[in-house]
Amino acid sequence: MKKVLIVGAGAVGTSFAYSLIHKGLIEEIVLYDIDEKRAIGEALDLAHGIYFTKPVEIRAGDLKEAKDSDMVVITAGAKQKPGETRLQLLDRNINIYRSLIPEIVQSGFNGIFLIVTNPVDVLTYFTYKFSGFSRNKVIGSGTVLDSSRFAYLLSRHCDVDPRSVNAYVIGEHGDTAVLAWSLTHIGGISLSEFCPVCGKRCFEDNVKEAIIKEVRNSAYKIIEYKGATYYAIGLALVNIVEAIARDENRILPVSIVHPEIFGFKDIPLSLPSIVGRNGVKKVLQVKLSEEEERELYKSAKLIKEVIDSFSS
Ligand code: 2OP
Repeated sequence: MKKVLIVGAGAVGTSFAYSLIHKGLIEEIVLYDIDEKRAIGEALDLAHGIYFTKPVEIRAGDLKEAKDSDMVVITAGAKQKPGETRLQLLDRNINIYRSLIPEIVQSGFNGIFLIVTNPVDVLTYFTYKFSGFSRNKVIGSGTVLDSSRFAYLLSRHCDVDPRSVNAYVIGEHGDTAVLAWSLTHIGGISLSEFCPVCGKRCFEDNVKEAIIKEVRNSAYKIIEYKGATYYAIGLALVNIVEAIARDENRILPVSIVHPEIFGFKDIPLSLPSIVGRNGVKKVLQVKLSEEEERELYKSAKLIKEVIDSFSS
């Protein structure tokens, strides 16, 4: 993959760029920000570090740079204040998308959109609508980060490396995120088999409830403590870009607009999906428990209601 345009040179956009330059995946990274000086400054600062990373060109540019970009990654927008939900950002961020997306499309861009701005699922939907692109090419970062939080917490609890934990959070990247316990494995062993071996009595000690709460509240806690989250999302984005750049067919819980879920049409949310060169290649038909199905329904219904209230 040759070129990535990052729209928004704030903490998330630059943490992503910083992680990306270590990878050697991309030849050219362009940073755009409405504050042009900020984009120039950040690009220069990063460019001076290339001597220590992998060969890549990094510079500031405008939205016309989308024309020959393989991916446009959008992090621009208002961020959550302490205590604010992701959905409460919609009325501010949708207006940014209303002007950004047509301008990017008019440049002749024909690559893959990766949406990061919150509320990410709803903005993935509006990018799909405003761009006219096919569903597989409009991807939201979705619950990739929530899933890594889930895997991290399980890894600490079970005392294994997080990479040996296969865990998925699905649904909304938000307050209704669903921790799919029934899909979780540690070293290939399902949790119901792993737990008795581990011997920590997790389920009796409300560990499950504590982990659910911590995954859902992670961003609130970090925002309260330091104002914003950016390092982990930056790394999560590199993971998604890598799957696309290397045509890996990696299974990631990214958000796309599904034609129909629970009878709701055009619903953006995350499910484990095969991600490769053309974006989402296939969404997996996962078997959930009844409780998880009910939670996923709640997530889909909420997203639908929010979309409908902004579409009318
Ligand atoms: C996060 O979960 C705020 O959505 C951002 O870190």
